[in-house]
Amino acid sequence: MIRILHLSDPHFGASDPLVASAFLAEAETLAPDVTILSGDLTMRARRAELAEAKAFVERLPRPRLIIPGNHDIPALNQPFHRFFAPFKRYRQTFGANIEPIHTAPGLHVATVNSAKPFGLHADWSVGRLTHDGLYRLDQRLSGAPGTFRVLTLHHPLLAPVGHRRDVVQPLDDLLELLAKHRVDLVLCGHFHQSHLATIGQKQGWQCIVSQAATVCSTRLQGESQGFHLIRVMDDFIEIDRHVFHGDAFESDATFAFTRGESGWTSADLATRHETNRIA
Ligand SMILES: [Fe+2]
Ligand SMILES: [Fe+2]
Repeated sequence: MIRILHLSDPHFGASDPLVASAFLAEAETLAPDVTILSGDLTMRARRAELAEAKAFVERLPRPRLIIPGNHDIPALNQPFHRFFAPFKRYRQTFGANIEPIHTAPGLHVATVNSAKPFGLHADWSVGRLTHDGLYRLDQRLSGAPGTFRVLTLHHPLLAPVGHRRDVVQPLDDLLELLAKHRVDLVLCGHFHQSHLATIGQKQGWQCIVSQAATVCSTRLQGESQGFHLIRVMDDFIEIDRHVFHGDAFESDATFAFTRGESGWTSADLATRHETNRIA
């Protein structure tokens, strides 16, 4: 069994230190095989925020994989940094490679950057993949046959239930790539809402999407802070959704999926635990 701890969007600069401490304590207890943080470590990539984020990341269980989100690019009031060196401060803090790869026996995790400093569209916070980004991803997903394949990016593939918000673009091109390489699982964040489902029916290969809530920020979108713990057992996966409640995180639901010839489907075994989540 492989256990993946998926967290997202801590947003240092607008984080709750008590929730962050509770998460770190929980993460140490869970002792996953790999910890993956899918972006938005800060609010505006300010140096003090990055220092806080680094201290947090250094306490995450190893091995760990982190990527930047749209909030890890300096804001418009710092135009030089935003337009000419968008990831300079992030790189100075976390290392030069903003698209890391993690491999372990039976596991291959690729990443791609979907955060851009500007674009030819109104909302620059929306996730975009360039042709170069898709090409790099194609290369990165080509290796490691027979392993459980994971893609991590910041921006979501699934719109929130009942809301019109933009998902990462171009989505169809990305789904074609996921089908081509039989990717099993996609990890992302950005909406600050937990969402677990499958995608890719039209492309003939369904993969599981794990969109995590914010782990410790105060920027809540109708639900409490949370994270996902993913247990991979060959052709069967269970995902525990954890939410912050009172003074600690607790699991309030478990989602199960099975793998067949055309990918993953819900095992319909999802159980819901008693919860007092914010409605
Ligand atoms: Fe965020
Ligand atoms: Fe974001």
